[in-house]
Amino acid sequence: MKILFLNGPNLNLLGTREPDKYGTATLKDIENYIKEEAKKIHTEISFYQSNIEGELVNEIQAAKGIYDGIVINPAAYTHTSVAIRDAFLAVQIPAVEIHLSNIHKREEFRKNSLIAPVCIGQICGFGAGSYKLGLIAITDYLIESAKKSQS
Ligand code: DQA
Repeated sequence: MKILFLNGPNLNLLGTREPDKYGTATLKDIENYIKEEAKKIHTEISFYQSNIEGELVNEIQAAKGIYDGIVINPAAYTHTSVAIRDAFLAVQIPAVEIHLSNIHKREEFRKNSLIAPVCIGQICGFGAGSYKLGLIAITDYLIESAKKSQS
């Protein structure tokens, strides 16, 4: 099973960026942690971060036929990006939206996601743990889907 982890703008600054909200782990720390977790369940993962909306759209398009699922922290694009939403609709790759912080406990504008309605579901509020939960959610979903299509 191959899973792509996508990370949106400013997540390259994790570790020093608003640590009260996002914790002190860097994105590289989270990537290493998730790679270890993925190994335990014999899953291959790739990690990608961009501050540029179009580059995230390109990655989603390029994932077709290569990745079985996507876990995405769209960061600020969660609340604004019709382009990322449309890319998921176009490729039809199962996806899980994740956030470090609980976006429902924060400013009003963060409560709305344009991406979650085109995902299987959303996980938020568990810090770096949201990435691990995202990995579990997408792999469980893909295993269950494969079982259903065999029966
Ligand atoms: C975030 C939440 C977003 O609202 C914010 O713009 C981010 C990070 C999170 O992981 O909690 O950049 O996606």
